[in-house]
Amino acid sequence: PEIAIVLGTRPEIIKLAPIIRHCRERSIPHTVIHTGQHYSDSLNDVFFAELGLPEPEYELEVGSASHGKQTGEMIVEIEDVLLEAEPATVLVQGDTNSVLAGAIATSKLSIDLGHVESGLRSHDRTMPEERNRVLTDHASDYLFAPTDQSRRALREEGIPDERIHVTGNTVVDAVEQNRTLAAERSSVFDDYDISRGEFCLLTAHRAETVDDEDRFASLLRGAGRVADALAREIVYPIHPRAANAVDEFDLVIPDGVRTIEPQQYLDFLALESEATLVLTDSGGVQEEACILGVPCVTLRENTERPETLAVDANVLVGTEPDAIHEGAVEMIDRTPAWPNPFGDGEAAERIVDAILRDEDRMTVTG
Ligand code: UD1
Ligand code: UDP
Repeated sequence: PEIAIVLGTRPEIIKLAPIIRHCRERSIPHTVIHTGQHYSDSLNDVFFAELGLPEPEYELEVGSASHGKQTGEMIVEIEDVLLEAEPATVLVQGDTNSVLAGAIATSKLSIDLGHVESGLRSHDRTMPEERNRVLTDHASDYLFAPTDQSRRALREEGIPDERIHVTGNTVVDAVEQNRTLAAERSSVFDDYDISRGEFCLLTAHRAETVDDEDRFASLLRGAGRVADALAREIVYPIHPRAANAVDEFDLVIPDGVRTIEPQQYLDFLALESEATLVLTDSGGVQEEACILGVPCVTLRENTERPETLAVDANVLVGTEPDAIHEGAVEMIDRTPAWPNPFGDGEAAERIVDAILRDEDRMTVTG
C-alpha cells in the first residue's frame, strides 16, 4: 500500500477516520494497523461501527501495560507488519503510546513517517503525551501541523521548513462530517433524560489528574460546586481509567454530578453541541468545544491547544474547586462568536495530497 495508518485509541480512531475515508473515496491503496491500546467496546469498537470504518487489516491486541512494556510490544509487532505490508508512508496521529511506537518502528525502516497533529506543545514534560509528541515530531518526515502556531513550535525546535505542512486539524473534518448526523440520529437526550441546553458536560481522564487521589477528589469537588452555583446538572461520561480511580480511592461523586458510560462519537458530539459549558482535561474535547461554539473550562495548568485560549473559547483553571467555580462563572455567559482556529475541514485531503505529491515526484525522478 501507499499508506499504512497506525492507530490504537479513541481519539486516534476519530481523528484518523477522515483520512481513512478520503483514501477509500480516492481508491488509494492503504492499510490500517490497530495496536489494541484501547480494546473495550466503548473506547474502540463503537467508533469503527458508527464512523463506517472497515475492520483494521492488522489487529495487534497489545492491551494495557506499563508504558515501556506497552510501547515496546507495539514496536515489535508494528515492525513485523511493516516488513510484510511494505507501505511507502506510515501515518500516526496525536500523542499516545501507539503513536510513539509507530514512529519508532517506522523510523528504523526505510519508510517515510507522517505525524498528523504535529507541533502541539504543552511544555509540560511530566506528561507522557508531551514526550511522545516531541519524540515523534523529531522522527517524522512529514509534520502535519494543524495551525501556524504549531508550525512555529516546530521551527523553534530546528525542524526544516520543507518537512512542515500546515493542514488544519482533522478534528474539524470529523466534526463537520458528523455533527448533522449527531443531531439527527442521537437519542442520548432521551436515553439519559438530559434536557438540551440545561446541563454542563464534564470529561476527565488524564493520568496526571485521575491517578492522583487529591487532585481528582479536588476536581470532583469543584464540579459539584459548579453544579450548585449554576443550578445545572453536570453529565460526566467516565473513561475506564477514571472509573477505576473512583473505585480505588473510594471517591465521592458529588450531588449534581452524574457519571454515565463513555459515549459513542455521535452521542458525545450531540452532548457537546447542546451543553451550556464543557469542563474537561481532554485535548480533543477542548478543540471540539471551540469548533462547536461551546465555552470550555480546562481542568489543567497548561494546554497544548493555546489557540483556544487566544480566541477566548477556553480558560485554564487547574483542579482547585475555587478556580473551577470562578472559571465556570466567567465562561458561562461568554458569547460564542470566536473564529475556529483549527482549519476548514479539508485537512485529510491536504495530508494525503502532500504524501502522494512526493511519491509521484519520486516515481518521475526514479
Ligand atoms: C491513552 C493516552 C492518552 C489519551 C487517552 C485517550 C497514552 C500514554 N495515553 O490514555 O493520551 O488521552 O488514551 O482516551 O498513550 N482501559 C480500559 N479499556 C481500554 C483501555 C484502557 O479499561 O480499552 C483502562 C485500563 O485500566 C488501563 C487504563 O484504562 O490500564 C489506561 O489505559 P491506557 O491505554 O494506558 O491509557 P489511557 O488512560 O486510555
Ligand atoms: N469522546 C467520545 N465519547 C466520550 C468522550 C470523548 O466519543 O465519552 C470523543 C471526543 O468527541 C473526542 C475524543 O473522544 O473526539 C477525545 O478523546 P479523549 O478525551 O479520550 O482523548 P484526548 O483527546 O484527550 O487525547
